[in-house]
Amino acid sequence: MSASDTTAPEQVDEDRRDFIHIATIAATVGGAGLVAYPFIDQMNAAGDTKAASSLEVDISKIPMGGEIRVLIGGKPFFLRHRTPEEVAAAVNTDVAKLPDPESDEDRLVQLPDGTRNAAILITSGACTHLGCVPVGPAQGSVGDYGGWYCPCHGSHYDTSGRIRKGPAPSNLPVPDYEWVSPTLVKISL
Ligand code: FES
Repeated sequence: MSASDTTAPEQVDEDRRDFIHIATIAATVGGAGLVAYPFIDQMNAAGDTKAASSLEVDISKIPMGGEIRVLIGGKPFFLRHRTPEEVAAAVNTDVAKLPDPESDEDRLVQLPDGTRNAAILITSGACTHLGCVPVGPAQGSVGDYGGWYCPCHGSHYDTSGRIRKGPAPSNLPVPDYEWVSPTLVKISL
């Protein structure tokens, strides 16, 4: 077991707490195998000193149309379970007209068998303007393009996490992640 696989709940400040869902995260800890942890644990004093560099998340827990938000090493990430309509909107976009042209397919990491799970989109949760955490479906605001909305200065992201309107200069980055199994992804910093 490497240190990078050790995962601990991390602290979040009060301002960001509203944006964070209580989520059950499958984390590999010591020899105990998969252990379910609540995401927020304000009382975990060791959180600061045990900042994780990777996290495994069970995507089967994400309701369709919803998302899980996680912190890794203090950085926010979104895991969204897109509806077929949201996937279609992401795919049927004229990439050439985007401020930061990127196809939806290029924003999805392949599974080991070479396929892609288009329903699951994983992105950074930090607005590319000045780093606020955009709101999404759970906060009742997905912006003008159905993805996320950053209320700090009004950036709108689509259902692929691509910037469509506002001051943000680029898409929500796709983090380094891999499929451990068809229902488990490992996100690394
Ligand atoms: S930080 Fe998101 S729009 Fe400025």
